Amino acid sequence: MDTETLTTHDADDDPRNRDIKIYINGQLLHRDAAKVSVYDAGFMLGDGMWEGMRLYDGVWSFFDAHMDRFFDSCKAVSLDVGMDRNGIMEALKQTARANNMVTDVHCRLMLTRGLKAKPFQHPSLSRTGPTLVIIMEHSKPATALQDRGIRLATVPQVRGLPMSQDAKYNSHSKLNCVIACLQAEQAGADEGLMLDPHGFVNTTNACNFFIVRRGEVWTSTGDYCMNGVTRQTVIDICRAEGIPVFEKNYSLYEAYGAQEAFLTGTFGAQTPVAEIDGKPIGDGTRPVTQRIREVYKQWIAKDVAEQAHRWT
Ligand SMILES: Cc1ncc(COP(=O)(O)O)c(C=O)c1O
Repeated sequence: MDTETLTTHDADDDPRNRDIKIYINGQLLHRDAAKVSVYDAGFMLGDGMWEGMRLYDGVWSFFDAHMDRFFDSCKAVSLDVGMDRNGIMEALKQTARANNMVTDVHCRLMLTRGLKAKPFQHPSLSRTGPTLVIIMEHSKPATALQDRGIRLATVPQVRGLPMSQDAKYNSHSKLNCVIACLQAEQAGADEGLMLDPHGFVNTTNACNFFIVRRGEVWTSTGDYCMNGVTRQTVIDICRAEGIPVFEKNYSLYEAYGAQEAFLTGTFGAQTPVAEIDGKPIGDGTRPVTQRIREVYKQWIAKDVAEQAHRWT
């Protein structure tokens, strides 16, 4: 097996990204000039929320689902976005236009609590309003992963309980996930498989996790993971296609014995898993993952057609 580390966010290098323009609070700046203050709450404390979205044929797919999560997250931490979703849409349009971007584009939209008057934690020290940054890059997920699949290692770092830092927040602070990723790397894997506080299989450090057992698709209850837009879309696809799908507790015992496993995320859509903790998953044929992947592409095309009028 190929031992080169591949991650679910690997993309083929695109030289056009060398000169992209970044949106910062209404300004579009060359990436070398795009800077945020060291007093920004995002830099200082990881105090902010973000969304990763993809542009297909001029349309940000599943835009409303992303905005529902983004605005809910900001509301929950009293972070005033300072605009509604139409304002976000305008900022995205402006950035895409400035970069001549139409398709195969990924964006990271980030909102922090903004500049602080002093280098301390209290949210009231942020007095200038939020900082909104949009990074858009030309990106196509690396195709090698679709054949080879990702190698997961179960890591000691677990997902937290909702009353510590709810894993549903797509917060700037990703330290929990970063630690899991480091542990996976140290174990020689590409990505970390994280358990919940009770030891059930939950999610990976960067994506949601699914297994296929005897034609059934299983994923965690969703209580301890980021409720991914792609995760929900896959569940909806299974329901629409008559594929039995369950959000339930299960252990590594069932994950190791699965016929297929795959990860979901906006960036990579569905990425097959080759092995977990050195144990190969299935026999390398992935009929259910393949079918879901095909239908997912159709659903993206449908979403793009339905939303097209909003982006022109
Ligand atoms: C920890 C984690 N899980 C899952 C996901 C996938 O979510 P989505 O499908 O909305 O991209 C992400 C993406 O940001 C993530 O950071």
